[in-house]
Amino acid sequence: MMKNIYAIFFTVLALFSACTSKPVADDSFKPGEIWSDNNGIHINAHGGGILFDQGKYYWFGEHKTEGEQGNLANVGVHCYSSSDLYNWTDEGIALAVMPESSGSDIEKGLERPKVVKNEKTGKYIMWFHLEPKGKGYKGALSGVAVSDNVTGPYVYLKAVRPSAGHYPVNVLDIHKGDSPAQNQNFDGGSLPGNVDTLNILGRDMKGGQMARDMTLFVDDDGKAYHIYSSEENSTLHIAELSDDYLSHTGKYGRFFPGRFMEAPAMFKRKGKYYLMMSGCTGWSPNQARSAVSDNIFGEWKELGDPCIGDTTKTTFHSQSTYILPVQGKEDCYIYMGDRWNPKDAIDGRYVWLPIRFDGDRFTIEWTDQWKLNEQ
Ligand code: GAL
Repeated sequence: MMKNIYAIFFTVLALFSACTSKPVADDSFKPGEIWSDNNGIHINAHGGGILFDQGKYYWFGEHKTEGEQGNLANVGVHCYSSSDLYNWTDEGIALAVMPESSGSDIEKGLERPKVVKNEKTGKYIMWFHLEPKGKGYKGALSGVAVSDNVTGPYVYLKAVRPSAGHYPVNVLDIHKGDSPAQNQNFDGGSLPGNVDTLNILGRDMKGGQMARDMTLFVDDDGKAYHIYSSEENSTLHIAELSDDYLSHTGKYGRFFPGRFMEAPAMFKRKGKYYLMMSGCTGWSPNQARSAVSDNIFGEWKELGDPCIGDTTKTTFHSQSTYILPVQGKEDCYIYMGDRWNPKDAIDGRYVWLPIRFDGDRFTIEWTDQWKLNEQ
């Protein structure tokens, strides 16, 4: 009799496991490992960011597909939700790319989407780096989409080059004069001279400033900022968004000229603003950088590489995408990075590590597995 009861119990258990591909809940982070969603499928949200809204976290990122072709966001922006940050539920595609035949601007060159909520309008706003078809990375546009629901669908509004016709708050005299950079294009990874003698900013005054790798940041006073690699990637811009978060006000600053900062992530702690960034080496990881400022428009002071024990100087083989303040836990921030796999983009991994503080500086150390309550 006992034997039969055991047999029935194990048969039911086996059937249950077969039906639910992810029976075991995660209770820790395992940086660089496969990270399954509620359906047992590796999370597909690369170059992403997280919004905390009404008790839940929402992770938005590029949906990649197999192979090298998969490096383009062939499908769109994928959204997942979680209440504990370990276990994620697939919420589907929040913003879909359109078929080529549609003639839409929302095509596959869509990178680093970030979503914020506008508390005044109640709308969810997504900004992303957009490259129109057939232009390689020369478009350097910023796209914006909006939704009444956090998980979407998001409706695409427009793509712009920020701050057309406006000088930055820290403009230099050279930007107001003629420049050898007029009508010149560069390769995005280096310049043939000093950025402040080439005057790329002046070249782009009329049409707006280039904007590639990007993030968003909402300050305590509700003002939102768009932070992006500009001037042929050479210089980071921080630009204020309008009250509805749908446009740029024209107020912006340029920082770290000639440092080729990419993959910006911003957070605020104890009244200070922090940035983490990478260098500019495409899908190959490089050494991280960090900076601090008392004001969002500077002076920004570089703090160097925040990674400790990163012997290969590759940000633990990852590139920053977001720094997440954990809700309800003082001084708890998570570094979110992408471990790209350009040969098979869908297999890109996520490197999430705890952030620690050392005076005014923040640091990141590798750990194979970790839990929030151990920090
Ligand atoms: C990286 C950038 C990625 C993507 C890639 C393409 O430097 O951070 O978002 O644009 O280059 O090569």
